[in-house]
Amino acid sequence: MKRLIIFLIVIVGFVILSCSKTKNDNPTQDDNTQTLDQKVDALVAQMTLEEKVGQMTQVDRSALQNIDDIKNYFLGSLLSGGGSAPSENSPAGWADMCDSYQNIAIKTRLKIPLIYGIDAVHGNNNVKGAVIFPHNIGMGCTWDAALAQKAAETTAEEVLGTGINWTFSPCIAVSRDIRWGRTYESFGETPEIQQIMSQAEVLGYQGTDLSNAGSILACAKHYVGDGGTTGGKDQGNTICDEATLRAIHLPGYISTIKAGVGSIMVSYSSWNGVKLSSIKYLLTDVLKTELGFSGFLVSDWGALYQLPGDFKAQIASAVNAGIDMVMVPTDYKTFIASLLADVQTGAVSMDRINDAVKRILKIKMKLGLFDHPLANRTYTAKVGSSAHREIARECVRESLVLLKNNKVLPLAKNLSKIFVAGSNADDIGNQCGGWTISWQGSSGNITAGTTILQGIKNAVSSSTQVTYSKDGTGAGGYDAAIVVIGETPYAEGNGDRTDLSISAQDYQTLVNVKYANIPTVVILVSGRPMIISNILDKSDAILAAWLPGTEGEGVSDVIFGDYKPVGKLTHSWPKDMSQLPLNYGDQIYDPLFPYKYGLTY
Ligand code: GLC
Repeated sequence: MKRLIIFLIVIVGFVILSCSKTKNDNPTQDDNTQTLDQKVDALVAQMTLEEKVGQMTQVDRSALQNIDDIKNYFLGSLLSGGGSAPSENSPAGWADMCDSYQNIAIKTRLKIPLIYGIDAVHGNNNVKGAVIFPHNIGMGCTWDAALAQKAAETTAEEVLGTGINWTFSPCIAVSRDIRWGRTYESFGETPEIQQIMSQAEVLGYQGTDLSNAGSILACAKHYVGDGGTTGGKDQGNTICDEATLRAIHLPGYISTIKAGVGSIMVSYSSWNGVKLSSIKYLLTDVLKTELGFSGFLVSDWGALYQLPGDFKAQIASAVNAGIDMVMVPTDYKTFIASLLADVQTGAVSMDRINDAVKRILKIKMKLGLFDHPLANRTYTAKVGSSAHREIARECVRESLVLLKNNKVLPLAKNLSKIFVAGSNADDIGNQCGGWTISWQGSSGNITAGTTILQGIKNAVSSSTQVTYSKDGTGAGGYDAAIVVIGETPYAEGNGDRTDLSISAQDYQTLVNVKYANIPTVVILVSGRPMIISNILDKSDAILAAWLPGTEGEGVSDVIFGDYKPVGKLTHSWPKDMSQLPLNYGDQIYDPLFPYKYGLTY
């Protein structure tokens, strides 16, 4: 009996020991499966204040005084502002440039890689040869979230192919006044369309997990109310109560946070007279605490200089409000010295610095930048591929909104003579708009692609004669005329307008064509609705093509009936300027064409 008891005690003891052994010697997380937070905390614990402040510093590549400043100042991020391209503006040229920077960063003491940001807002649009998609106003008119996600996935591949891992996109501004020069960067005038498209694009860029092979970091911008400024003034003042700000301008951010957006850019604009970059309530209390945004906040280009006080005060105000990374973007030495001084004086707490750095490092780790910091060259060959162009062409087709059609569309492909006219018929630069190759964009043959005229020529039968006359003279005797007019490229405040009438040149072109008294199709290539009441009587059909990008054949696909027009307006179309601002839901609402309007065949 005694032996049995001893035996049972030994067995029970062994069982207890083995369980506790499992518990003590093999913790649920052994060293190489630390949680992400544990890894970040462990890294931050090793960092000097200079290394931490460096991580919060973003510099435009063109402002680097010495490429070794990347390691001398422990820089955390570089960007290419609009047009800030390598001397060899090719996918490989970009990838080589980014790798040259990264190879310096990963030689620092703690080997923390850079994160490189760019405005890939309608394709990787700084890069020559990249596929340029329709700007957001056109993507919005597709109302096709799945397509928008596919477009973002494609763009992510073309961004990765250039060695870049972060796009300052999607712009989820709710543009409430089409006089604003950034109307085309917005999906439309309601939170409804913002929620649909912004969630889709974040998922397209980031995937369901930032560590996925094809993922890049997205950036919802510009937080918050950038599209609500008085008179549509860029970087202006949005005057409204908090309930209105939350109802109109916040829903898109809630959707992107749900989709896991890893970064958000703060707006230049003001809310009731106070610059967003300094409003702790909105940046920290609402976005980070109430809505649980766990990524990092980046300031806009030089936005801190717009705040009150000297540079140290501006920096303290913005960082204490909740900005985690500062897009300086040029005078990084002064910025770093000033932020270090702010920490020394206590103007900025070490807790705030640590929080900002942890947010940034967590995203870098999630992106896998520590494991694979250099360009994935398998994507480089895909930049500008025909497969990608087909996706963009599909976006163009679905973005077109048919506003008028006196049974002239679709045109037959075998008409004997087609007359094409207008300033925007054969200009790839004009059909791409701003943020293309350069910041402002430009007219002319600026990158590879197909103009609308080339698309028409490719679509018609071999026996059809297509004649192009920019000013519209000589249309007599043709079976039909296609007149492509609209805007020339602009970006940001340079696009703010007080008059959205058709230009005198475009009007005269239409008058010249009208003399021929033949079926006339007008195509508007513009970043927003324009005042067209005075040309309605000179057109038998009107198609809004927005800023379609490089795949002009998407327009001819619809003109000749291979595809029906399916686009629906995301902006109310005004009769005249006196109606602006004009938005769906206004008490007095009498547009020329209403929100969600669009004809088909
Ligand atoms: C610009 C824009 C912003 C862009 C940033 C970097 O001024 O406001 O949308 O992402 O600077 O180019």
